[in-house]
Amino acid sequence: MKELLPGRRQPRGTRHVAGRFLALSLAALAVGIILVTAGCAGITPATLPGNAPGQISADHPVRVSEGKPLSVFSRQEAFSIHQVITEDSATSRTIVWQSEQEEKDPFVEYRALGADGTPSGELWAQGARRNERFAEDGKTSWIHTVKLTGLRPGTAYQYRLGAGSRRGPWLSLKTPAGPRFQALIFTDSQSARYDTWGKVAGSAWSRHGTADLALVLGDLVDNGQQDAQWRQWFRQAAPLVTSIPVAPVLGNHETYTLDWQVRMPEAYTRFFPLPALPERWQRQYGSQFYSFDVGEVHFTVVNTQFRELEKFEPHLQEEQLAWLRQDLRQTRKKWKIVLMHKDALQYGFKHRQTPRAEGFSDEGKIFLPVFDEFSVDAVLSGHLHSYRNRGHIRNFRRDASGPLYIMAGLSGDVRYPDLWRDHALDERVLPQPETDNYMTLDAAPDRLVFRTYLPDGTSVDEAILDKP
Ligand SMILES: [Fe+2]
Ligand SMILES: [Fe+2]
Repeated sequence: MKELLPGRRQPRGTRHVAGRFLALSLAALAVGIILVTAGCAGITPATLPGNAPGQISADHPVRVSEGKPLSVFSRQEAFSIHQVITEDSATSRTIVWQSEQEEKDPFVEYRALGADGTPSGELWAQGARRNERFAEDGKTSWIHTVKLTGLRPGTAYQYRLGAGSRRGPWLSLKTPAGPRFQALIFTDSQSARYDTWGKVAGSAWSRHGTADLALVLGDLVDNGQQDAQWRQWFRQAAPLVTSIPVAPVLGNHETYTLDWQVRMPEAYTRFFPLPALPERWQRQYGSQFYSFDVGEVHFTVVNTQFRELEKFEPHLQEEQLAWLRQDLRQTRKKWKIVLMHKDALQYGFKHRQTPRAEGFSDEGKIFLPVFDEFSVDAVLSGHLHSYRNRGHIRNFRRDASGPLYIMAGLSGDVRYPDLWRDHALDERVLPQPETDNYMTLDAAPDRLVFRTYLPDGTSVDEAILDKP
């Protein structure tokens, strides 16, 4: 896979450079004074190549002039670059990346592209809201989070990371507009080797390169504490996750320690700073569950790990239910889609000694009545590594007036061949033994279309929801 960041740096440290740096600093100080005097918002500082630290606001865009970068980020200076979904991806975007060393005042520069794909607008920048030291699995890194705000809907941009006089390569970003958009859907990308995940994500992106966001329904990695797995996950899917925002779902594997005990999902919640919850829930549960809108669709993302996390968060289940009801009640969007990792249905084992009856899972028993009550349109899940379209269910029975329940299969290399019995409510099961798959969601004003594909692009299922 093509490396995003060639390890290229220009030599530094000569007296000549030191002198130039002093001159730059003095000039930058002058710009800073102008900025402060002008009260910042909307002004046009004649920013130098290599903006001085602290000049660029994290809260609002500042116009900057493009200078020639003195050097390019190396792989150690910027890795695991990815976009994260915000509450409104038409006007904002979160960019996250890591570095091996501490960075002072990193930022992101960005500009709009014209219809022909060339830069047409002014150059803007926003600084990092968080620069967090993160020690995990024997490695120390810094996680940088920049939130771009005030973006124009329906616009293509290019952006690049910056710190001091260094810059990353230009990357792509675009904002959706109106009720039409496309989402790519993956689940259970957890792997022994992440090249399979890279192939599935790469295949989906090469076929649907105009998609607006990627939903990942949990178990992104096999072990949520293993640093190398996260690096592989981001690296293998770099063309995708640097270009469109990821809306992730917390899975059980994100909560595992290196010795497979349960812990809080420390890495996951740092890599994915997700839309804030109302105050009552944010401090305790931020980034574990959340909601966001795209077009006329309200996405509600739940955390199905309340059994595992009980010793850390004894009230997670009832607190999340209270939030879920409030969230589904308050939205005015035409469509409601719920994303959850563990499936609502329970499947029996085909060959295991301990039998298990088919029915509804504990999570399903808790959530289904709420989904019925608030007329959720579709529920997407994962976890069993098997694709199952169950059609519409209400009140625990097949009912065309209930939400559509689709369990996506897998997008990694962990497979459970011949493990599950078919369920009486299954309407479509993929040929066994099952390989990877991905899905698309195409949203239009009166219609949602879910399509399922094998990695080679073969279409294997379709479900259409209409609401005139
Ligand atoms: Fe899984
Ligand atoms: Fe799982």
